[in-house]
Amino acid sequence: MKTHDIALIPGDGIGPAVIDAAWEVLQRAASRHGASLSATRFPWSCDFYRQTGAMMPADGIETLRRFDAVFLGAVGWPAEVPDSVSLHGLLLPIRKAFRQYANIRPHRLLPGVEGPLRKEGFDILCIRENTEGEYSGAGGRVHVGTPDEVAVETAIFTRVGVERILRFGFEQARARRGKLASVTKSNAQKHTMVFWDEMTQLLAAEYPDVEVTPYHIDAMAARMVMAPETLDVVVASNLFGDILTDLGAAIQGGLGFAASANINPDRTAPSMFEPVHGSAPDIAHLGVANPIATIWSGAMMLEHLGEQGAAADVMRAVEATTGRGIGIRPGQDKTDAIAKAVLEALG
Ligand code: IPM
Ligand code: MN
Repeated sequence: MKTHDIALIPGDGIGPAVIDAAWEVLQRAASRHGASLSATRFPWSCDFYRQTGAMMPADGIETLRRFDAVFLGAVGWPAEVPDSVSLHGLLLPIRKAFRQYANIRPHRLLPGVEGPLRKEGFDILCIRENTEGEYSGAGGRVHVGTPDEVAVETAIFTRVGVERILRFGFEQARARRGKLASVTKSNAQKHTMVFWDEMTQLLAAEYPDVEVTPYHIDAMAARMVMAPETLDVVVASNLFGDILTDLGAAIQGGLGFAASANINPDRTAPSMFEPVHGSAPDIAHLGVANPIATIWSGAMMLEHLGEQGAAADVMRAVEATTGRGIGIRPGQDKTDAIAKAVLEALG
């Protein structure tokens, strides 16, 4: 029997509840396909920070490196630890250290879910650059607290970084409906974004079978609301992709349905799978967090691990569950009840 070693980081807020709910589903699906998932749980979180002064131990990254994948719930408890500390102490360093440069986020309506648009039939795959761009962390503050204070945050776009994410986008488009939307703001940002547009043009010559269209981020935001059915694969820089995928989550019915995969396509380090953020402190103790986004992220993990059959079973079970009207509205059903329904649908 093939065993996949998974590092579980449930994290903060609703994280532990959705991870536990999803884990049972994933294990059941894997075992039905002759595979097993083994979990090693890490308590790294804002609680851990309060006890130790760090979000994870100094050798945390090295500890995670030996796993086949990381499965993460949510990070952040802003009432006690500033988000800028918690995220830069756990989630963001993992994405960078493991070169998880492609963040994949699917946006479509599951059966039974209405969404706010009164529109059906869209199926968008957002590909977000995940290691550089606006999240590079280059910058600083000087003259702090004085009237002369200055804050600088420099976006960094490397040729290697831009080329590999665009290629990834082209490949995904090729494997789907052959359409790629490349998102920038090159009418206002004339260095980085013009560079991205030029790289898109350059690579387009290698993918004559892919129809590529450049969009500005503002127009793309409008299009995702007004005509999402016209989109297939959307590729964007780190911050633009971050914002567009919360919009994507909204049009698919909310964060409870928004799955994501932080992929290292070269497989030189583990990839990480997590529902689109966050920890939802407002509902953390109510037991009503929707585990579907996490289960879907888990299906993406199974697929990455080569367990295509198990992944397909999980998605079929999720679709059967929402199709029966379970877990389709925020707060409607308990986390456990939704997970139980998915388990039943798995058989
Ligand atoms: C996401 C989140 C993170 C991000 C935050 C929590 C740092 O919003 O995964 O989309 O901006 O990448
Ligand atoms: Mn986000």
